[in-house]
Amino acid sequence: MREIILAVSYWLHLTATVVWIGGIAFILFIAIPSAKQVLGADAGKLMGEISKRFTPMANYSIIFIVVTGAILTGFNRQFSGIGNVGNSWSLTLIMKHVLVFVMAAVHFYRGLVLAPKIARTETVSEKTLLQKLSLNLVKVNFCLGVMVLLLSGIMSVLFRYNT
Ligand code: HEM
Repeated sequence: MREIILAVSYWLHLTATVVWIGGIAFILFIAIPSAKQVLGADAGKLMGEISKRFTPMANYSIIFIVVTGAILTGFNRQFSGIGNVGNSWSLTLIMKHVLVFVMAAVHFYRGLVLAPKIARTETVSEKTLLQKLSLNLVKVNFCLGVMVLLLSGIMSVLFRYNT
């Protein structure tokens, strides 16, 4: 039973990772440049539609990542209790938690505060400024996501070769 819970949690953890971090990468490096190239000034309309469809997927991914992450942590022999930095694996996990917390805060700030503010803003100059901030926050989240993946790889090595 333990193996089934772990296998399914790992599968969902990795799938949610692919959807969230992969989605951010697709939007930044494929969708935005292509929309600008093809639609020019109308690129914002297409990106608005893409964001509207991606946001719920990112929300569910965050929930799945946190729930499966907690399960994977609870079942891991290296885990020595919340806040207990008994080894380098736990220390790496805490660093990962901090980055994931910042990523989730940025994601929900963009979705719940910035997006409605951009929609309400009349003046073109202020709207452009807020849209630039929103795009820069996506870039920040991409960089944090890559660092979380690096920490996850380090944890995996520490787990497999330190026990
Ligand atoms: C953006 C968020 C996250 C991403 C991208 C992510 C990514 C990953 C990846 C790729 C692995 C597999 C590493 C491997 O086996 O090679 C992993 C494992 C793991 N993750 Fe996450 N994760 C995230 C958030 C979390 C959170 C919030 C927790 C805890 C609540 C967590 C706990 C774990 C644990 C315990 C493992 C197993 C580590 C091991 O093999 O020793 N992760 N994660």
